[in-house]
Amino acid sequence: MSYLHDLDPARIPRHVAIVMDGNGRWAAQRGLPRTKGHEAGERALYDVVEGGLEIGLPYLSVYAFSTENWDRPASEVRFLMNFNRSLIRARRDELHERGVRIRFLGRRDWRLPRSVQREMEVAERLTGRNERMHLVIALNYGGRAEILDAVRVLLDDRRRRRVRGERITERSIGRRMYLPDVPDPDLLIRTSGEMRTSNFLLWQAAYAELWFTPVLWPDFDREHLFEAIRDYQKRERRFGGVG
Ligand code: IPE
Ligand code: IPE
Ligand code: MG
Repeated sequence: MSYLHDLDPARIPRHVAIVMDGNGRWAAQRGLPRTKGHEAGERALYDVVEGGLEIGLPYLSVYAFSTENWDRPASEVRFLMNFNRSLIRARRDELHERGVRIRFLGRRDWRLPRSVQREMEVAERLTGRNERMHLVIALNYGGRAEILDAVRVLLDDRRRRRVRGERITERSIGRRMYLPDVPDPDLLIRTSGEMRTSNFLLWQAAYAELWFTPVLWPDFDREHLFEAIRDYQKRERRFGGVG
């Protein structure tokens, strides 16, 4: 456990969010179909979960499928839905034994197949009392969609009480996000060299520290996670103040 020597246990982030990107390019580099890249990403995800458990990370969020990903070819969308369904089913017992609470972030609308939603519900129920780590899987998630949904709920609530616009606060919007109890991400990681957030945790990541790596998601592992956290621990977070 040599890496722990230079991680400050008192400054482990509460919440790390990851945009798991580069599966398609990883496959293309090997002359494989894109789907093989998604399959290879599974190992990376579970290694990172193990790494998170090792260092006592309380919240880990991963971007698995965005509201924009529906625009991909139908065959890839179908593959990803089947893949996520079998992944949830295959791993939930093991995650449960490790004390992981599995949660899902995103819209549970008609686009998300019923069979996938059923597996999600089983995983949530099975692991609902676990506290060691929250694993938040963003599936059919978009940051703008989430803010829009929050505003819709807010207006529906408020109309009944005739509350004026100026009474609406950041807190009243934040409370209506999909998982309001999950703390804002401290550190947002994106793999594959792309330097954008692609609509991930748009509201919550306002003050997240960003960390980018050219490593493609299937090649990512817990050592990369520790490297990102090591970097994070050297930064000064000012939140608009003067430090
Ligand atoms: C990330 O890998 C996985 C999903 C978005 C589902 P990509 O499929 O985006 O891989 P690249 O970016 O095309 O390499
Ligand atoms: C972001 O990756 C979404 C996920 C990782 C699930 P994309 O590959 O979809 O993002 P863009 O299109 O490059 O911005
Ligand atoms: Mg991509």
